[in-house]
Amino acid sequence: MVFMEGKGKSKSGGRKGKEESSLFDKVWTLANHRGFVFPSAEIYGGIAGIYDLGPLGAKLKNNLVQAWREFFVLRETNPPVYELDGSTILPYDALKASGHLDSFTDPTVSCLKCKKWMRADHLIEDSLGLYVEGLSPEELTKIIRENNLVCPDCGDGLSDVSVFNLMLGVQVGPAGGQTAFLRPETAQDIFLDFKRVQQSMRAKLPFGIAQIGRSYRNEISPRQGLIRVREFTQMEIEMFVHPRELGSHPSFGRVRDVRIRILTRGQQMKGEIEPVEMSAGESLEKGILPNAYMAYYLAKETLFYKSLGIPYDKFHFRHMMPEETPFYSGGNFDLEVELSIGRKEIVGNAYRTSYDLSNHMKKSGKDLSVDFDGEKVVPEVVEPSFGVERAIYCILEHCYREDDGRGWSWFQFPPKIAPLTALVVPLVRKEPLTDISFKTYENLKENGIDVEYDDRGSVGKRYARADEIGIPFCVTIDYDTPKANTVTIRDRDSRKQVVVNRDSLTETISKLVSGVIKFEDLL
Ligand code: GLY
Repeated sequence: MVFMEGKGKSKSGGRKGKEESSLFDKVWTLANHRGFVFPSAEIYGGIAGIYDLGPLGAKLKNNLVQAWREFFVLRETNPPVYELDGSTILPYDALKASGHLDSFTDPTVSCLKCKKWMRADHLIEDSLGLYVEGLSPEELTKIIRENNLVCPDCGDGLSDVSVFNLMLGVQVGPAGGQTAFLRPETAQDIFLDFKRVQQSMRAKLPFGIAQIGRSYRNEISPRQGLIRVREFTQMEIEMFVHPRELGSHPSFGRVRDVRIRILTRGQQMKGEIEPVEMSAGESLEKGILPNAYMAYYLAKETLFYKSLGIPYDKFHFRHMMPEETPFYSGGNFDLEVELSIGRKEIVGNAYRTSYDLSNHMKKSGKDLSVDFDGEKVVPEVVEPSFGVERAIYCILEHCYREDDGRGWSWFQFPPKIAPLTALVVPLVRKEPLTDISFKTYENLKENGIDVEYDDRGSVGKRYARADEIGIPFCVTIDYDTPKANTVTIRDRDSRKQVVVNRDSLTETISKLVSGVIKFEDLL
């Protein structure tokens, strides 16, 4: 489940708690400084855990979302995946039926003096290093009392542990109106609209419904920048399958040989933290994963995150322990990324069974079953749920490069998600170089390439600024351009340069971005 950080952490490599991470501080400060992300409503002090993405952050996010949509939705043929754009406000009854009103809670404790609220499990884990997932409020209170835990801020005594619902409520309409909630996951719209989508698209099992959008959680202690936030973007797919058909995925052959890294429950019980590696096919044959759909998504996620610049050996799928598995799930394999602040979950992969549809059928009285060769079936669901803001932080940290002799730190974003693809620079601010440069810039933009133009300062400084925000290519217009119609492309990663014909620039850059050619091929 996305945004339920650090479960099984003492068994799986650990949340770093209060430990300082200079890399985290550096990347976070840079991300603020370079305008990727900053606190929302900052001039009024903002609200903890709510951030705005600046121009570069917004582009990075849009590119990430578009890459996801293409890979997980648009290119999927068998089963097909349909996209939904649902409401962020959901009625009380829907969230009562889904279980969120009763079970979407965290244990909390407050300081009797300074009134600071904390997550009781985090306090115990940070102070005592104990794994307390799944313990009742009474058991957590007992641990706090027996170990004389006090408020980490002011040192005063603590309240008993109580449970706190993480949903944000809203009153819709005048005079109190109707009680509703901001959705805690995009998945619920998908279940509520399931029958509508199935009928309007004449969909047959299996098929998926995806949604990209905002969700909200009233986190008790938002922290670590984009890692634990109160308003965030999810990209979720609910894949609806006949319960008898979960053992085979029609397109599994495409991913069977993809290597994936899994941390099993057995390993976690033994205190092991190094995942085992196997192919998606083997994970299924050995019975490590509950069904072929889960194996399919773990393989696709591996390919996807590698392509975003997160090294293969820096992430794995952890089988969540029973006590930390979300209330709606028959088993979770969550993608965790190694960061300087510990292992963080960025994708939750849940086998949701028919839990949601069955509960909505009971509560609403509506028939949500579908016809399958004359049989009435309530499908089962496999859900990959991607957290966008967390992924953005992971990309920032894993693409961050210290000064490697060039004189500045920089971001090595893969070209397909880099906030800007190219920077067009005249060698000097003089005609006709500026005029040709601006026309080149306009031409690239008209051809759908996201570029900027910069003619201020020395060319070296402009290259530095481009590197600092992770622009993969600089296009320099120099004195040869008016004569020979050539431009120079500078590669951010190698800092090598190559001269190409100006007429082939759009095509060359498009091929470099899509990976059809590599920069070395041009040398
Ligand atoms: N839909 C799963 C989650 O939001 O965690």
